[in-house]
Parts: sequence; structure tokens; C-alpha cells
Amino acid sequence: MSAVDPVDAQAMRPPALERAPRLRVESIHHAFGSLVVSDDVSLDIAPGECHGLIGPNGAGKSTLFDIIAGEIIPLGGGVHLDGKEITGEPPDRRARLGLARSFQHNDLFAELTVRENLIVGGIVAHGIGHVAWRALARERSVCEKAEMLAMRLGLEDVLDTEVHTLSYGTRRQLEIALALEMEPKVLLLDEPTAGMSPEETVHIQERIADSPPDLALLIVEHDMDVLFGLADRVTVLDYGRVLLQGDAEEVRASDIVRQRYLGTDPVPTTPVSIPS
Ligand SMILES: Nc1ncnc2c1ncn2[C@@H]1O[C@H](COP(=O)(O)OP(=O)(O)OP(=O)(O)O)[C@@H](O)[C@H]1O
Ligand SMILES: [Mg+2]
Repeated sequence: MSAVDPVDAQAMRPPALERAPRLRVESIHHAFGSLVVSDDVSLDIAPGECHGLIGPNGAGKSTLFDIIAGEIIPLGGGVHLDGKEITGEPPDRRARLGLARSFQHNDLFAELTVRENLIVGGIVAHGIGHVAWRALARERSVCEKAEMLAMRLGLEDVLDTEVHTLSYGTRRQLEIALALEMEPKVLLLDEPTAGMSPEETVHIQERIADSPPDLALLIVEHDMDVLFGLADRVTVLDYGRVLLQGDAEEVRASDIVRQRYLGTDPVPTTPVSIPS
């Protein structure tokens, strides 16, 4: 099966709204010892925007995710969610404020079924603590929500399958379902299609394209068809620095991206803003 037509996938999401940024990353600086991994990195993501982050291995993409999610406090710069500075906030506080990362859910309950995982996720998402979850799972609303989400993410056929028997790709789909169950304002997806079959890749691309219209998405992805099929805007990182930043089509047409990422010849013009 071929990849989803980028035009079709983008048409499934509304254009990025002209509003104040939902997520603002401002002049981030970070280093591990003498290795500088974030060098004055800034980017804004509007509600409804899908922002792609690309760069070679070791460029600092996952580190930037760690900084945004609060797992790393940067040496300099700031992170703002809906205009509120969250640079020093711990990850659980950021999650409560609406920042989700699919990566954080890779500790699925392997012995439970997909349905049970979604029910537990729903309970956590809505803050119903200290209740026997099996009793709660009988509550119609919790079950219905779990089933609806499973349908949206294409997991309906494996609802009663124990997670440890699922393919890697299906487990990743479940991780994304659990992240969406938090009803986040911002979702960080680090290589969502890594390790997936072509069919699973198409499926997850469609599901991401179909995510809630107000969600701000930041996605790292090595599959350029997927990345440019989803992204409204793209930032190219290299050695921790922002090399290019702009509308997806402009970045896609740039010589650097064509040569390094798309394996095609450069074109004569490169209408991309290069940060000073
Ligand atoms: N905890 C750490 N301590 C020291 N160095 C680290 C640490 N985490 C990452 N690095 C280094 O920082 C650099 C950036 O790593 P990072 O994982 O952010 O890159 P990346 O762009 O996500 O790469 P990839 O495409 O391979 O996932 C790499 O050289 C990596 O080896
Ligand atoms: Mg990485």
C-alpha cells in the first residue's frame, strides 16, 4: 500500500489558526557537558497546527521534546503553554495543563487488554483516583469512551486482546490513543511510525491527520512522506541549531531538504526564511 497522498491528509486537518501560539519555545539553550544540543532554538505552534521537526540523528530533536515535556530543564530559554511560562514545571504538572507525549505511555499494562488499558487511561485522564477500576469499568460512560477512542484509532478489532500479544505498530497506536484520551492541548509525537509496517504507517498517519481540530501537534518523523503529509510548518534542526523554519511546502522545496532528506536535486529558488 502506498503512503497517504499528502494533499488528502492535509485536507483532513483545518489550516493552522491565526491565533496566539498554544506552545511557544523561546531561545532554548541546552548542553550535555561540552556538547551543545539546543542552541537558541525557538518555535511557535498555533492551535490546530501540526509542526514538523526534522534533522539528522543527534540533531537534538528528542532533547527538545524532553525540554518541552519537562523531563529536562534547559540551561537557558523558556517554554510557554497558552502564554503561561512552564519552563520550571515538572512533567506531571505540564500533563495536567494539557501537554501530552505519546512516549510517556510506553509503559502500557502488558497483561491487560486494549479495552482495559483505555479504561485505566480514561480514569487517569479524568482524575478518578483510588476507585476499584474494574467496578468503574462497568460504568457505561467510561466503557463507551474507551470504545469510541478505539474505533477512532482503528483498534476496535483488538479491544479484547492482551497488549503483550500485539504487534509493535499496534502498541504504538494504543500509546497515541492513550495520549489523546488525556484530551491534550499539545501533543508531542516522537517518531510515531517508527517500526510500523506500510499499512500501519498509512493508518496512523490518517489518525493523526484526523486528531481534534484545536490540537497543537509537534511531530518528529524520519518518514518524509508522513512528515510532509501532516505538517503545516516545519523546523529543520542541525547540531542543535535551527537551520530552516517555515511553511511545510517552502521547507520541502528548499535545496537543503531536497538534497539531504528527499534525495532529489535542488531547485533554483529557495523561498525559505533563514533565522539570523
Ligand atoms: N542524557 C544525555 N547525556 C549526554 N548526551 C546526551 C544525552 N541525551 C542525548 N545526548 C546526546 O545529545 C545529542 C542529541 O540527542 P537527541 O537524542 O536529542 O538527538 P535526536 O535528534 O533525537 O536524534 P535521533 O534522530 O537519532 O533520535 C546526541 O549527540 C546524543 O548522543
Ligand atoms: Mg530522537
